[in-house]
Amino acid sequence: MSKKLIAFYSRADENYVNGMIKTLEIGNTEVAAGIIKELTGADLFKIEQAKSYSSDYNECIAQAQDDQRQNSRPELTNYPETLDEYDVIYLGYPNYWSTMPMAVFTFLEHFNFSDKTIKPFCTHEGSGLGSSVSDIKKLCPKAKIEKGLAIRGGSVNRAKNDIEKWI
Ligand SMILES: Cc1cc2nc3c(=O)[nH]c(=O)nc-3n(C[C@H](O)[C@H](O)[C@H](O)COP(=O)(O)O)c2cc1C
Repeated sequence: MSKKLIAFYSRADENYVNGMIKTLEIGNTEVAAGIIKELTGADLFKIEQAKSYSSDYNECIAQAQDDQRQNSRPELTNYPETLDEYDVIYLGYPNYWSTMPMAVFTFLEHFNFSDKTIKPFCTHEGSGLGSSVSDIKKLCPKAKIEKGLAIRGGSVNRAKNDIEKWI
């Protein structure tokens, strides 16, 4: 048990970047996950909802806010079969309303993270990690949660040095 996994949620399409609506070919968190893979050689797993949010930014905002208000657990398309072989999990997500998308809550509740190290990283437009790290602690009380990394979404392509230091 000495492998590392990067599990991340990310949404391409319309997003709010540096004060403007922009269409992203690859989501910001996915870009950060790719940099971590390049630096660590860790396995990659994308957390995907069975019913994805709209590609339209404003609709997505409303859908994600509804899910958060209802404390819902969106169904996922699939899961890694097991996490047994991993000791470190880099957990990536965009900041949605000051915490993680609810699909990441679904993912965390699916596994037992006892004795695993979770390294949270998030991309955002100003709110940093918000309350995500304390939410991860509640969902995974037996995991060791290391210091999180917050990356401004619009600067993710220039974040390699910060990511390397954090790793
Ligand atoms: C539904 C939704 C809610 C968001 N809420 C916040 C927020 O509360 N604070 C913040 O700084 N950024 C917020 N953002 C911006 C995203 O965190 C940011 O654009 C992130 O880099 C997107 O990552 P992705 O491209 O990997 O999905 C929100 C974006 C969306 C779509």
